[in-house]
Amino acid sequence: MTASRRGTTRPVLTAKAFAKINLDLRVLDVRPDGYHELRTTFQSIALADTLTFRSTRTPLRIECDDPACPAGRRNLVWRAAARMWKAAKRRGLPRGLTIQIAKRIPVQAGLGGGSSDAAAALRALAVIWRVQISSAELHQMASELGADVPFFLEGGTALGVGRGDRLFPLDDIARAWVVLVIPDFAVNTKDAFGWWDRTRGRLRGADSNDLQAPVAERHPVVKRLVAALKRGGAFHASLSGSGSAVYGLFPSRPGALRAARALDGSGRRTIVVRTLDRGECRALAAT
Ligand code: C5P
Repeated sequence: MTASRRGTTRPVLTAKAFAKINLDLRVLDVRPDGYHELRTTFQSIALADTLTFRSTRTPLRIECDDPACPAGRRNLVWRAAARMWKAAKRRGLPRGLTIQIAKRIPVQAGLGGGSSDAAAALRALAVIWRVQISSAELHQMASELGADVPFFLEGGTALGVGRGDRLFPLDDIARAWVVLVIPDFAVNTKDAFGWWDRTRGRLRGADSNDLQAPVAERHPVVKRLVAALKRGGAFHASLSGSGSAVYGLFPSRPGALRAARALDGSGRRTIVVRTLDRGECRALAAT
């Protein structure tokens, strides 16, 4: 490992953490632990944060280029590292690495960015710290970090039940182009489930995501964006997870780019990406 002029070292490893959308999301009930029983279809998309692991002599540092990304120990990546450090049977708090996160997945948008970063960190740190860990143990560790985290260990298309952490791989869907519309507000996941609690699904309607109506009640633009994506040629459009991102699926890239151009502006932005299958996620994860 050689030190550069800036005092950092060459990367030990880099990893890509892909975002997801929820193709559907049913909230079935509130559980005794306060979480909600879900049935949801996760789908990986080609939008990723990049995590770079560098060797240092200091306590673990998390650096992120997006000010909206939680710093230090509040970042899920720090907590993932603390869990893996323990599994490596090392004493005290994690040290010896700086993890830089190049954040491309919008924060608090329902795209799973924080959870995906945590899953990528778990996988990478198991390698860096040479931790012998079964996939069942890794899955357990991931689900303790957050309900969405286990999905990102595999990616692709998967059915999530329980808190969304019990996963069943599904056949890959035909590749589609995704227009993500990122509004100028964020939604806190806990708040969105709280809004669902107040109506307990009475607002459901014909949406493919049970959180869409309670979120759209507070942020009416969500409903307008879903309708606009459908008018613009999407064969499916919905809120992703608890939002605030709304997406539309298109059969072709030109069609997706056209719809994105029509929706850009007024404080929101659009991102056009394609869906990723499980094999692509695995192949592209280690950069
Ligand atoms: O698991 P995670 O910390 O990502 O979840 C964030 C919040 O979302 C939880 O504290 C909970 O309020 C809510 N949640 C839920 N039911 C789920 C998943 C998340 O109520 N299945």
